[in-house]
Amino acid sequence: MSLPLEGIKVIDFTGVQAGPACTQLLAWFGADVLKVERPGVGDITRRQLRDIPDVDALYFTMLNSNKKSLELNTKSPEGREILEKLIRSADVLVENFAPGAMDRMGFSWERIQELNPRLIFGSVKGFGENSPYADLKVYENVAQCAGGAASTTGFWDGPPTVSGAALGDSNSGMHLAIGILTALIDRMKTGKGQKVTVSMQDCVLNLARVKLRDQQRLERVGYLEEYPQYPNGTFSDVVPRGGNAGGGGQPGWVLKCKGWETDDNAYIYFTIQEQAWAATCKAIGKPEWIDDPDYATPRARQSHIFEIFADIEKWLADKTKFEAVDILRKFDIPCAPVLTMKEIAYDPALRESGTVVEVQHKVRGPYLTVGSPIKFSGFKPTILESPLLGEHTDEVLTELGYSADEIAKLRAARVV
Ligand code: COA
Repeated sequence: MSLPLEGIKVIDFTGVQAGPACTQLLAWFGADVLKVERPGVGDITRRQLRDIPDVDALYFTMLNSNKKSLELNTKSPEGREILEKLIRSADVLVENFAPGAMDRMGFSWERIQELNPRLIFGSVKGFGENSPYADLKVYENVAQCAGGAASTTGFWDGPPTVSGAALGDSNSGMHLAIGILTALIDRMKTGKGQKVTVSMQDCVLNLARVKLRDQQRLERVGYLEEYPQYPNGTFSDVVPRGGNAGGGGQPGWVLKCKGWETDDNAYIYFTIQEQAWAATCKAIGKPEWIDDPDYATPRARQSHIFEIFADIEKWLADKTKFEAVDILRKFDIPCAPVLTMKEIAYDPALRESGTVVEVQHKVRGPYLTVGSPIKFSGFKPTILESPLLGEHTDEVLTELGYSADEIAKLRAARVV
């Protein structure tokens, strides 16, 4: 089956999560992605959080599927020459080194353009070029804090809190992938490549934009009526942490179900949808609330919304999270069980859709990964194993015209 990005050559000069997530997505959709790694070392995630001694860690295998690996010391003159050859014939180069590392290596944007004016150069940094923090090295949680997610996540009586979801890393990679695909389409018209950059701070903020909405509302009216602090608590001049409150116009909360005393995840998320109030009352056995003036409108409910949630929890007390959702779905109530990673790992629907995929790795054996969350009617990405360090070194150098003798010499000199 022909894949949409077939024929697009990507040099994957990335590490850890943000860059690899971007290039992995391109690889799933058919691009020929070559990961360039330091000889004998490779992407640091190959060794991080290992669960099996001397085997590539899941951190690496789950972010580098469908790629090839070339070991190359790009700081040696011979290594630079090889990278130059690769750049001349590539369509895309993606990197997420610390600020300035590409320049120090001799591959500034100006130099890259000289080598290949059609090349699209994708780059992830922690902060934008004009930021006072532009020189900083950045990991996931640093970005979540700088992008406004941490100050607005968690409970009001606790500290700023980071999310378990990779809002800084994988999210920035997804933004960069959109940018690269856009630049590829633009190149069809102009014939020219361009530099595409994303900052992790910006990408986090893009997902936290509803909180910037709330900041402006707060400055105008002095309160945020959908937050638990309203109307009985106080607001300062910054958006507070709202616990599990719904971020939109529909109040919601995480509610206890049967077994919560012993099971940390026996909860559902329950939303009180304004237009479904009557159905909600019927579902939870409170038909008398439908027309009661203390309950009938969102404004009337807001002042005692937590009493309402407490009453709903009484209704939930003898139902598991799955039983509760099965009842509530009949009344069109937006809700879901709080699922554990174990439940997700074995969810048959997620397996069937290709969102959770079992991959065979030649050393590790089978492991689970997250497949493409984007579904197409025309093709289904096949998720393959990640490459071993340098697995494709000989193949790539041979394609570039190096003889077996020359490759052996490069290896002896630790260039590859
Ligand atoms: N051959 C020779 N040298 C190589 C190489 C290769 N194949 N690949 C990398 N290097 C060098 C780099 O050029 C750099 O050298 P320099 O410090 O002399 O310039 C060095 O290895 C280290 O790279 P660096 O990116 O600084 O790694 P780090 O481990 O110190 O920092 C990050 C890691 C992620 C903190 C940093 O890269 C960063 O801030 N990246 C941008 C933001 C980002 O993407 N963060 C999220 C990661 S999920």
